Amino acid sequence: MHRRVSRLIDAQERWAKPVGQWNQRWIAAAFAGSRPLKDFLNGVWLGHPVHPAVTDVPVGALTAGMLLDLTDQRRAADVVTATGVAAMVASAATGAADAVDAHGRPQVQATVHASIMVGSLAAYLASLAVRAARPSSRPLAVSLALLGYAGIAAGAYVGGELVYGSGNMVDRHAWRTGAARWRRLDVDEVPEGAPMQARAGQDTLVLYRTGDTIHALHDTCAHAGGPLSGGTVIDGCIECPWHGSRFRLSDGRVVRGPAVYDQPAYEVRAIDGGGLEARRLPAPLD
Ligand code: FES
Repeated sequence: MHRRVSRLIDAQERWAKPVGQWNQRWIAAAFAGSRPLKDFLNGVWLGHPVHPAVTDVPVGALTAGMLLDLTDQRRAADVVTATGVAAMVASAATGAADAVDAHGRPQVQATVHASIMVGSLAAYLASLAVRAARPSSRPLAVSLALLGYAGIAAGAYVGGELVYGSGNMVDRHAWRTGAARWRRLDVDEVPEGAPMQARAGQDTLVLYRTGDTIHALHDTCAHAGGPLSGGTVIDGCIECPWHGSRFRLSDGRVVRGPAVYDQPAYEVRAIDGGGLEARRLPAPLD
């Protein structure tokens, strides 16, 4: 079933790609002057994407609303459905903040996901309107809500595929576990004031020297894998060249999104007899 559904989602690329790109342009323009708001919606403050947490509210409320509708508990059903619809709007805002930085297959999936959810939202809004304006048309209101709920279920599946299947907004260093140990770098010198790439065993790091101190972070951006060594250093942080996330050079702490996870940081020391070695630091506490 998963393979068939995946093919069906991928087949939407013809319309979803241009629509997604158009949406990304106006959403990016809307966020252009309010980066802190975008960071808030991404979840930089939480250290975790906000979108999947917020979406639990409409899914739960609208499931309860459906059951209350089906058991004809009208007043409770209306209140719970209206709550779910309000939460859908909040979910849309957090989802837009994440989707604006998606590219390739994740962008297509995000557009399909969002389109289904917008259709579902329209059905629920129509249902609420009928509930308020024409109480005698209760079967129509309930039918519209059921249609919206089917959309929620389908959209949630595509959203799950976007995260679990394509790894969108997943920490690129989630599997980096195990003991930190010293490993020799493949460079002996680090020039002052310019990021440079170096290898430490299987890992690629970005190094940056300020005076006698050599800062080192993993080169693969925690957000979507951008090369930090191609970025610029601003206020003690390195900025990813792909979507502008910033990580503190001293400990890898994320200070600007869309990344919400910290970047693995390393300490670097000179080896007796020449050369450099690096060891991963513990995750920052503050
Ligand atoms: S890959 Fe997106 S900010 Fe680095």
